[in-house]
Amino acid sequence: MTEKQFELIDRATERKSELPVRTGTIGPAVVDISSINKDLGLFTYDPGFGLTAATESRITYIDGDAGVLLYRGYPVEQLAEKSSFMEVAYLLLLGELPSRKQLEGFSGSIRYHTMINETLLRFFNGFHHNAHPMAMVSAVVASMSAFYHDTMDIHNPRQREIFAHRIIAKIPTIAAAAHKHSLGQPFIYPRNDLGYCSNALHMLFAVPCEPYQVDSVAAEALDLLFILHADHEQNASTSTVRLAGSTGANPYAAISAGVSALWGPAHGGANEAVLSMLEQIGSVDNIAKYLAMAKDKSSHFRLMGFGHRVSTNFDPRAKIIREMCHKVLVRLGRPDNPLLELALRLEEIALKDEYFISRKLYPNVDFYSGIIYSAIGIPRSMFTVMFAIARTVGWVAHWQEMISDPAMRIGRPRQLYTGPTRRDYIDITKRV
Ligand code: SDX
Repeated sequence: MTEKQFELIDRATERKSELPVRTGTIGPAVVDISSINKDLGLFTYDPGFGLTAATESRITYIDGDAGVLLYRGYPVEQLAEKSSFMEVAYLLLLGELPSRKQLEGFSGSIRYHTMINETLLRFFNGFHHNAHPMAMVSAVVASMSAFYHDTMDIHNPRQREIFAHRIIAKIPTIAAAAHKHSLGQPFIYPRNDLGYCSNALHMLFAVPCEPYQVDSVAAEALDLLFILHADHEQNASTSTVRLAGSTGANPYAAISAGVSALWGPAHGGANEAVLSMLEQIGSVDNIAKYLAMAKDKSSHFRLMGFGHRVSTNFDPRAKIIREMCHKVLVRLGRPDNPLLELALRLEEIALKDEYFISRKLYPNVDFYSGIIYSAIGIPRSMFTVMFAIARTVGWVAHWQEMISDPAMRIGRPRQLYTGPTRRDYIDITKRV
């Protein structure tokens, strides 16, 4: 919707450009700058895209100042309390909460597509035993394009739907296979009689030599963590999926690119880094020393799990996970978790510190999630893989939204060039 516009005037030449303003349903309006190069020969400059709307989207809305996160308009707090990950997946992909019949059909389709091709399973034997699981997951997801040729026509809605169900169904199987390879244990096949999160835990922790009973508390905790990690608007990994997908690359390649982007410690890799940081801090007595390091740029130390490009208030997901921590630990019979105590004290002290207050640095989704993953037995190297399982739903929803838009164009940012001006080649005999 365009209702008003700005005028950009080059005072030197009196050339002008009319910049229409477009407003969405909620949130900041945007200035359409598509005419400024033609009218004024300009590009815009926004390193890190902090203020750039790269697309229009109807999936997720974040108000970082107000601590609001909506999935298709529904507050994440309500979905966390009342919904399930499968229902949230349906909502993010299709835009509406499903009827009972629709949910049964969707979750049934996911449930019966969890196995991966046996040849693909053998890929894991090619990795060194100490390969990071994210390396294995990104490689095997990309390799799916070598197996599932029936979902490569990105302009075929039915093939896009089959791809969506297939990748959401199989990503836990791939994740668990990476974990089992790291342990040197046999792969555990998925079971069609288990729900999504119970199946993931079964494949992660069961062994062939004895029965394994999924802990319902752990399955509930995982379901809630997956809901909270499912989507977060145009974050780095989702923008990576969109950019890779905009070239027309197959969807498995686009999702694999998202897995790789998520791996970074500034993004999804932070949950793994938080636990390492808490162990490095060790005790409440050392908090002051590490907060001082976090404020000292020369230390290169950052308080992992703190700060966010968009969430400049308490991340609603962090609040929910923090409340969940204690409940899960008590129900798992591990009420006293020294790392949780340390994290709570660290948060309390940091949030009273002017450095963090003035920069609006609050705990983000990664600050507490690792404590729960640890409590349900997931090793630290698998924390970001768990994040990737959940975020696959968001990546697929955004990829589908982009690919099904007839106006989709290849993404191609520009630059401010500050390199050498034109100069002629110098023969090596004439160089000093
Ligand atoms: C996720 O985008 C998403 O939505 C991501 C995510 C999702 O669901 O997809 O929410 C998931 O990635 C959460 C973020 C996880 N990352 C971390 O916890 C790593 C630690 N945090 C940061 O490195 C940092 O806060 C970022 C990367 C999250 C945000 O970086 P920005 O927006 O580029 O902020 P910045 O680096 O410009 O920092 C602004 C100021 C700087 O100080 P000054 O130059 O103003 O003096 O705040 C400081 C920074 O030094 N700062 C920190 C800090 N984060 C920012 N100082 C100490 N510790 C920190 N964690």
